Amino acid sequence: MAYLLSSVASHEALPDSFVFPPDQRPPASAAVVALPVIDLSGPRDEVRRAILEAGKELGFFQVHTSLAWSALISPFYSPPVAIDDDDDGRPTDRPTQVINHGVPEDAVRDMETCCDEFFRLPAEDKAAFYSDDTDKPNRLFSSTIYGIGGERYWRDCLRLACGFPYHDTARSAWPDKPGRLRDVMERFVVPTRAVGMELLRLLCEGMGLRPDYFEGGLSAGDVIVNVNHYPPCPDPARTLGLPPHCDRNLITLLLQGSVPGLQVSYRGDWIRAQLVPGAFIVNFGHQLEIATNGLLKSIEHRAAPNGALPRTSVATFIMPTEDCLVAPAEELVDGEGNPPRYRAVTFREFMKVYKTVGARRESVEKAFKI
Ligand code: OGA
Ligand code: NI
Repeated sequence: MAYLLSSVASHEALPDSFVFPPDQRPPASAAVVALPVIDLSGPRDEVRRAILEAGKELGFFQVHTSLAWSALISPFYSPPVAIDDDDDGRPTDRPTQVINHGVPEDAVRDMETCCDEFFRLPAEDKAAFYSDDTDKPNRLFSSTIYGIGGERYWRDCLRLACGFPYHDTARSAWPDKPGRLRDVMERFVVPTRAVGMELLRLLCEGMGLRPDYFEGGLSAGDVIVNVNHYPPCPDPARTLGLPPHCDRNLITLLLQGSVPGLQVSYRGDWIRAQLVPGAFIVNFGHQLEIATNGLLKSIEHRAAPNGALPRTSVATFIMPTEDCLVAPAEELVDGEGNPPRYRAVTFREFMKVYKTVGARRESVEKAFKI
């Protein structure tokens, strides 16, 4: 039976099944971390350097959609600087953002509003798309249990899949309500993937790999779009929307929506990523970490629900094909100080193991690190 958090008119109390023991949910630091900006329209060698530096430092940065930003932000890259956002005398380092990435602003806005509309549909419309079959690429599900404790996470999720090169046959597997969702998704997913591929090319150039290194099987799987919906939570301090995890794919582009909630692991703390409306937050998945022999790291992050407001985020995942053998690039390995740090693994095998060991960085490292 379809149980959706977003189909309950209002939640009076947090059900016990969503309550985490305090040690499973350490509070985030008070600091909200602002993300400096990388402008993709800047000189290519500067952009390349900026993305690589930000990626190595934090594994997280942002791409902004608003052209107005390029006029406002100068220079286009500020390296991480020590700031004291929360006035506690302790400096907080800043991760990085990117602007002028080429996804039309209205395509991003339409995707965000249409996804919000989806979760406001009548319960019976949503129930029609609900499925607990984890093998189904397109489905709606809720309150997933990820850990051994059996606690549930405060999230409904609409998962949409799209093959590339894009073909419009993908559309028929997406919900037909709201009426414009299929058009909106198509106008969003094609340029968003293109931005992801361009970022990968820039990273390759910066690391000394050939620019098309990630263009084959490593990125030829379906693009998965997870629309995460976190309804207002009656007791946000005692639960989570998503557990601490590293993304399992190659590279992720995330829209936070209009309510903040993303928290990123940084030097032993959970830092709260400041909301920049319309910006993509970019982070690296496990496959990019393996392929770059750990030069680019997949960093743990989690999502906190909000006590007052519903939150909808949109995560676009670029994935390898199931058969793709993912291994450290030869160019990034040598016999001297830099031996291969990860064993070669097909994406299919990676996923099989990932499903059993869980998404924590430590357990994935244990399974795949040499
Ligand atoms: C994800 C994710 C964070 C968020 O979907 O993998 O990390 O803020 N989402 O919803
Ligand atoms: Ni994630």
